[in-house]
Amino acid sequence: MKKNPQQRIEELRKLIKEHDYNYYILAQPTISDYEYDQLVNELIKLEKENPHLITPDSPTQRVGSDLTNVFNPVTHRVPMLSLSNTYSEEEMYDFDRRVKDGLPKNEKVEYVCELKIDGVSVSLRYKNGLLVTAATRGDGTTGEEITNNIKTIRSVPLSIRKPESKKLNLDDIEVRGEIYMEIEAFKKINEERELNGEKTFANPRNLTAGTIKLLDPQLVAKRPLKIFVYYLYSETDELTTHYENLKLLREMGFPVNQNYKLCKDIEEVMKFCNDWEDKRDTLPYEIDGVVVKVNSLKQQKILGNIAKSPRWAVAYKFKAKQAKTRLNKIVWQVGRTGTLTPVAELEPVFLAGSTISRATLHNIDEIKRKDIREGDVVIIEKGGDVIPKVVAVDLSQRPRNSQEVKLPSKCPVCNSNLFRPENEVAIYCENNLCPAQIKGRIEHFASRGAMDITGLGEALINLFVDLGYLKDYSDIYHLKEHKEELIQIERLGEKSVDNLLTSIEKSKEKPFDKVLFALGIRYVGAGVAKKIADHFRSIDALMNASEEEIESIHEIGPSISKSIRRFFSDNNNIKLIERLKKAGLKFKSEEVKIASDKLKGKSFVLTGTLSSMSREEAKEKIILLGGHVLSAVSKNTDFVVVGENPGSKFDNAQKLGIPILSEEEFLKMIE
Ligand code: IVH
Repeated sequence: MKKNPQQRIEELRKLIKEHDYNYYILAQPTISDYEYDQLVNELIKLEKENPHLITPDSPTQRVGSDLTNVFNPVTHRVPMLSLSNTYSEEEMYDFDRRVKDGLPKNEKVEYVCELKIDGVSVSLRYKNGLLVTAATRGDGTTGEEITNNIKTIRSVPLSIRKPESKKLNLDDIEVRGEIYMEIEAFKKINEERELNGEKTFANPRNLTAGTIKLLDPQLVAKRPLKIFVYYLYSETDELTTHYENLKLLREMGFPVNQNYKLCKDIEEVMKFCNDWEDKRDTLPYEIDGVVVKVNSLKQQKILGNIAKSPRWAVAYKFKAKQAKTRLNKIVWQVGRTGTLTPVAELEPVFLAGSTISRATLHNIDEIKRKDIREGDVVIIEKGGDVIPKVVAVDLSQRPRNSQEVKLPSKCPVCNSNLFRPENEVAIYCENNLCPAQIKGRIEHFASRGAMDITGLGEALINLFVDLGYLKDYSDIYHLKEHKEELIQIERLGEKSVDNLLTSIEKSKEKPFDKVLFALGIRYVGAGVAKKIADHFRSIDALMNASEEEIESIHEIGPSISKSIRRFFSDNNNIKLIERLKKAGLKFKSEEVKIASDKLKGKSFVLTGTLSSMSREEAKEKIILLGGHVLSAVSKNTDFVVVGENPGSKFDNAQKLGIPILSEEEFLKMIE
């Protein structure tokens, strides 16, 4: 007799779940990929015919077809703490001593050592066995909801298995872990992006962080993210040790990194740390240290937390990864302001997640101090996502005929004269029209923090400048007149040209302060541009302002005001601005529409994190009601709004006797 659809659907789900467990957790598949796909396809078909039978934990529901993320704030039931770091054996012994000092005399302490996965932490909440929310760490107290993205990760169980070894109440649990990407997958994605002219990611962690915050889960599903979980939280008091918890998590169907160890003392812990520091390169994913946790949950409770990290755990961080390679050549790069920066061209080496072929050398003094020369074998280092640097030279391998590095006498790009201002180590190319400076200025104009024109990166700008389409950044807004020619350029094509032109159009909506920043006036960074835009509110007012007037703005000094005056005294710059105005860019601040005068004339200072809104939102609300927001507390401040973990502004307010508002009181006031 044929089974009814409901029965078969349930049976299929159970089978698929079992095979997922065999594949992702035990790494022992018992059927072929083909057979597995057959099961999934049958389930999809049956669910299509019987949509009322679809449940949220069905394996077909990993990628919803029309879901997007909204990133709602999620308050963590237990704050997501971070760990304090240690870098040496000594510090580890200190940690061991502190743990023992914090516990009743002569109590035995065991530790669990785990690999510290270099990814992004996530918290998963399961109610009645079902995954209900996944959230980022955020500030530790409140994170963002990313459930739809996390569901696409196949090794994240949508529902938990009932563990056989123990009868526990697991109706409401929280599981924490690290989302990461394997090194090979990372390399592949970066290679593809490079081919498509898209920005590449610095390391697997950045790519992971970027991916879990994508709006569209369908895109997330295409990136091979993985997870290791390392923490179980449950209200039940039946749990006793972290070691047991790790075993339990695996039984429940979670991927737990199997390279963990129960250690009876700190000596054993150190051995684990040293062994893995040597072996780290044998893993297919990145680790940046070892996490050491007190095993007994009772002892963890006694030890408790200090500020943002637990007293019962610590991270032993590995030393920055180093590699040796040959420095083939030193080239001088010309930046948008004409500064010449020495860059080392290296024999490519793979180091900490990416292939490195260049490293910055900062300036000539740095080169002299380290006595770096062309042809040397050098030691390079990369810590976190910082740009690689040359730390030392292996003098034993120096070629016999090597020569000290000399400053160039002419600009390496346009052959103009160079100058070196007194008391500065930097040297500059004098020629404002030097192609390298032009390219640098356009790159800055289009960059993320400025006009944010996606798709217009370094490579394309170089190409467009060389082909004559861009002579300065105002030409960007005339690229559309050359659309047909651009499509003909090899590797561009109609679709990418369309995308580019769309993002160029979109950039016209950028507010005045971003436009001002994009102009690339020396010393006018994003923060300064915002202050100036807020004060003058239009480019015309700024152009007519004297140095004194500019300096009257809080924290704006003479070097900035002189640089601004110099910029506007150049006729070419005035013409540039005229062209940008014609293109439709915003050279005026938006009028702020005051909704009421409830807070008229009142000044506020904000400190700490608010749980119901971001600081920017709070600021907007205050302005909308006629008040204003200051950055520092003074006698003239009317109110100080205090959120979680306030800074020194809170202390100052108390000292000066300024009225203090809790978040709740503030919300009442702006209701
Ligand atoms: S335990 C209170 N275990 O490292 C317990 N963290 O700086 C806190 N991490 O935010 C976390 N591997 O993102 C723990 N095996 C592991 C870990 C791990 C990576 C990350 C995690 C955490 C950060 C701590």
